[in-house]
Amino acid sequence: MKVALVDRFERVHDYLRISVTDRCNLRCVYCMPAEGMQFLDESAIMTDDEIVGVVKAGAALGIRKLRITGGEPTVRKNLVELVERLAAIPGIEDIALTTNGMTLREQAHALKRAGISRLNLSLDSMKPEAFQAITRHGDYVRVWRGLEAAVEAGFSPIKLNVVLVKGFNETEIVDFIRLTKEWPLIVRFIEYMPIGQDAEQWRARYVPLTQVFEEAKAAGLSLEAGDQVRGNGPAEYFRVPGFAGQIGLIHPVSDHFCATCNRLRLTADGKLKPCLYWEDEVSVRDCAHDPEKLKELFYRALKLKPEKHEMARAGELLENGLTPTWRAMSQIGG
Ligand code: GTP
Ligand code: 5AD
Ligand code: SF4
Repeated sequence: MKVALVDRFERVHDYLRISVTDRCNLRCVYCMPAEGMQFLDESAIMTDDEIVGVVKAGAALGIRKLRITGGEPTVRKNLVELVERLAAIPGIEDIALTTNGMTLREQAHALKRAGISRLNLSLDSMKPEAFQAITRHGDYVRVWRGLEAAVEAGFSPIKLNVVLVKGFNETEIVDFIRLTKEWPLIVRFIEYMPIGQDAEQWRARYVPLTQVFEEAKAAGLSLEAGDQVRGNGPAEYFRVPGFAGQIGLIHPVSDHFCATCNRLRLTADGKLKPCLYWEDEVSVRDCAHDPEKLKELFYRALKLKPEKHEMARAGELLENGLTPTWRAMSQIGG
């Protein structure tokens, strides 16, 4: 009999996003507060052995693809060794990484050799000052060098994640589209999600992705349906005819994509999280070396998986004291 992780809504889960640390060397405005973030003690973070144990159990149930996230995953010690071990697990076919690129220049080649095939890089602005304002500690030139190192190392495809935040980078939509003229990159515009955020900031700064179409049109750039891009996520792809790269749109707020959700998340403190939006979690750390128990816990997490998130109603829910999850985005891994 073929095993599969199928939930109450007939969705097949073959993708696990693993947050390997809640720490980060940046403080992006849409992700973490400037100060006062409480980080996990070293002892509360899953060890390599524990993560490998959980992934082995997941792979036996049909998990085929992994994405390593954080916080910022490259600040975890010995990430390369962990990736090597994950890549060797029977059944795992694809390992991707989402990073802010601050240390990519130093790490790109080793991560590629260890088994990461695809890379998503957060790059919210091409203006050094705006980039610094959004990330609070980011160094644009350093990240751009990291991107060059990733191209050299042969990651394919490379996707740039651009979260649109009003007052910071929404004026750069056309510049980012034009970047794909010469560069075979995938630029993905992402709607700012109301997770771990005060309702006021989110409401004031959210930009719906319909704006991408409006600005492209005003600049005389037509966006046509793009080619299929390797990936497991929710983006829809477009291209300007004749351009080398493509544009991806990720619009969880204005038009959710929960009906095709294929993923579970593992947090750095060892909780299986069925949906990034809601509170429900299943603790797996204590059982990380017990394959039978872990299987049961994977199925328990699936049972808790809701049909969809309610981000479009976030303002109203927050006002009524309903916090979907206590976690900041950096504690979920996007
Ligand atoms: P690919 O395999 O390259 O398509 O990856 P991905 O888009 O799944 O990964 P990435 O980590 O780059 O995430 C891009 C954006 O999509 C981030 O803003 C994530 O928070 C968001 N995202 C990823 N998965 C989900 C999800 O299940 N629900 C929602 N609402 N947003 C998600
Ligand atoms: N809304 C949308 N995307 C977010 N990310 C982090 N916080 C948010 C948010 N509030 C994205 C980052 C990163 C990915 C892992 O998650 O841009 O690329
Ligand atoms: Fe760090 Fe990524 Fe969050 Fe920015 S989005 S603070 S880089 S974890």
